[in-house]
Amino acid sequence: MTTLLLGQTLSFSANPWQVPVDDAVQHVRRGAVLIDGGLIRAVGPADDLKTKYPEAKITDYGDHLIIAGFIDSHAHFSQTAIIASWGKRLIDWLNTYTFPEETRFHDAKYAAQVAETYLDLNLSNGITTACAYCTIHPESVDAYFTAAQKRGLRMMGGKVMMDRNAPDGLRDTAQSGYDDSKALLRKWHGKDRLSYVITPRFAPTSTETQLEATGALWAQFPDCLMQTHLSEQSEEIAWVRDLFPDQQDYLAVYEHFGLTGPGAVLGHSIYLSDREWSAIRDGGSSLAHCPTSNAFIGSGLFNATKAHEMKIPTGLATDVGGGSSFSMLRTMASAYEIGQLRGDALHPAQLLWMATQGSADALHVGNKIGNLVAGREADIVVIDMASTPVIEQRVKRAEDFWEQIFPTIMLGDDRAISAVWVNGSNRAD
Ligand code: GUN
Ligand code: ZN
Repeated sequence: MTTLLLGQTLSFSANPWQVPVDDAVQHVRRGAVLIDGGLIRAVGPADDLKTKYPEAKITDYGDHLIIAGFIDSHAHFSQTAIIASWGKRLIDWLNTYTFPEETRFHDAKYAAQVAETYLDLNLSNGITTACAYCTIHPESVDAYFTAAQKRGLRMMGGKVMMDRNAPDGLRDTAQSGYDDSKALLRKWHGKDRLSYVITPRFAPTSTETQLEATGALWAQFPDCLMQTHLSEQSEEIAWVRDLFPDQQDYLAVYEHFGLTGPGAVLGHSIYLSDREWSAIRDGGSSLAHCPTSNAFIGSGLFNATKAHEMKIPTGLATDVGGGSSFSMLRTMASAYEIGQLRGDALHPAQLLWMATQGSADALHVGNKIGNLVAGREADIVVIDMASTPVIEQRVKRAEDFWEQIFPTIMLGDDRAISAVWVNGSNRAD
């Protein structure tokens, strides 16, 4: 069935980090998006599309904003139940809250229950794609992809590999990590809208043998992404230096084992040396900016401006549950605040880019999702830009579109998400 969504529309014709916002963004105050067969077929002024497609079923969202669904470029679905746990820095936080919780995912029933909750929370926040870490248990991956498949979502993720510095019940071995990952990859990668991501947790929890096996696995399946954590917190970086004394820096550990380059998604990446920045740019890895997590766990201030100046593909990420929110609006607000602390006032267009097309590019699906343009998959979010009294009274003073959307970015949450379309279907239907 052909459907025509009416409302304000926003699409990108270019990257607002690279060209002036007015040249990068198409905003239509009375716009329309034509959907058919799971794809966006046309985007334009409402009157034009109504005339051209008189048979289309109309859903009128009035003054609400229609944009591409949000894309979370780094999250841990298995940490849903421990989000907002108090008082620790990274290594203590992992040992105190995260590892005990992840141990529970050997239980397929528990894994399935959390996967359902996680995806429902994502959808209520307008997140239509995420790139998630599961746990070491194959059951967790099956639970995640089964729940995603049921909802018709484009989802990415993989089994965490870790064979040291984790408690009993939460370690694989170099061999079993390799074998299980390969079997899961064969089972899920490319099935419907799902893709498998090779997932060594981070350098401290893998032996050299495991990192070597992981590099070999990725070399066999270069079509898959590979995700890991890099340079998130000072104690972690010192630990990596102790564990890998022969490597010149943190990134060099991954480079040594063939775990960088196009398709690598490096979470956090806060404390990079000049060499590491250049090597990431030259090698073609992507970065995932996790602002609420970096603030919540006390990690530091990622330099989003530098990443974009260097033209490194950079996505926005909740990093649930080190991150403190499922809301990509709250995550954009946090990115804005971190920009301010660095002396950079990020434009709302730049924040929206990172949450959609920027994340899509970082995850190598930028030709499929992330923008409201003809030919993309119809993953769409509709935003009420006056969803609470405080936002509404603020928006009444707005003199242009950016003043209208910015209060929702700063103050909005799931109440601002008025509809979500997944693969051309309304989630509410
Ligand atoms: N580094 C290694 N594992 C994790 C994790 O689960 N969350 C965060 N934020 N950092 C990590
Ligand atoms: Zn993470």
